Amino acid sequence: MIETRILGCNRDSLDAAVKYIEEGEVVAFHTETVYGLGANAFDDGAVLKIFELKGRPSDNPLIVHVHRDYDISPLIDGEPPYAEALRKAFLPGPLTMVYPSTGKVSQYVSCGLNTLAIRVPSSPTAQAFLKAVDLPIAAPSANLSKHVSPVTARHVYEDFAGRIPLILDGGACSGGIESTVLDCTGKVPQILREGLVTRAMIAKVAGDCGVYRRQAGEKPKSPGMAYKHYAPRCNTAHCRTAEEAAALYRRALEEGERPCILAESSVAQELSGYAVLDLGSTGEEMARNLYALLREGEKRATLLIGVEPQLQGGVMDGVMNRWKKAFGAI
Ligand code: TXA
Ligand code: MG
Repeated sequence: MIETRILGCNRDSLDAAVKYIEEGEVVAFHTETVYGLGANAFDDGAVLKIFELKGRPSDNPLIVHVHRDYDISPLIDGEPPYAEALRKAFLPGPLTMVYPSTGKVSQYVSCGLNTLAIRVPSSPTAQAFLKAVDLPIAAPSANLSKHVSPVTARHVYEDFAGRIPLILDGGACSGGIESTVLDCTGKVPQILREGLVTRAMIAKVAGDCGVYRRQAGEKPKSPGMAYKHYAPRCNTAHCRTAEEAAALYRRALEEGERPCILAESSVAQELSGYAVLDLGSTGEEMARNLYALLREGEKRATLLIGVEPQLQGGVMDGVMNRWKKAFGAI
């Protein structure tokens, strides 16, 4: 066991972070989406340590994070004109771009794929950390594999206390769901994972934008899509209406369960006599609240009952993608 320090971003904590990264250690850091678990992307041993810490399958590639002035051209084998336009429009921000790789970073980052995912986070803490190390930092979300992604330093601590030396605390993540992952290797950009930068926003800049949907039996283009994810550690149930949730709740109480309902604001208000977690009413609010409430739900309840949000489109595409995985409602 090692001591895990949670430190705000300042000269001392950044010096410590640089030292750990240079020694091949793993450091957790705030981003605007979720917290990341970072290591030097050039260091095989450090990258492998990430997989070991998370219990992550060895075929699920990592995103490389760089500061806004970092020159990525040695890492990538060219970029189409639309990608340059997208970078200018959305970076730094919650958009990860997948490029043909030159193979300069550790082979373990992309798990044998000939592409490399690059992200320039906008969080001031992430920028300060990435500037201080001045290296590409491979970082998945800082949760144990399959668990809900972390949106506070405390969440990271709950999963990794005693196993990593430092968490760079930047407060609660304002975005709340992971970045949009965009394949930029083809003629038209294609979304591999939906997020806060939506298809409409990308299409407006790039002229067009596809969304990758895996065909049954096909090997996924983004291996992370194939895995169980975002699962709260309690039983879950999924409903379509407030009435259905209320009936399920009462039955669960009779059976000795400790139920709790997760629902958008209008439904949460309807169910105010029950133990209920309010997800919010806009897409952005629901994205910001989802993971924190899934983590709160697993602590409070033995059965978490989700009432499917009715809002659709835009950011909700990303929210519903995580929602379905969390509640097993695919
Ligand atoms: O917002 C985020 O993206 C957060 C923060 C920490 O930056 N990171 C994150 O990483 O969500 P992770 O490892 O939890 O998810 C990375 C996703 C996975 O679905 C993975 O399969 C995909 O990105 N990915 C990584 N490299 C890829 C590549 N070369 N080609 C296709 N998909 C890739
Ligand atoms: Mg993740």
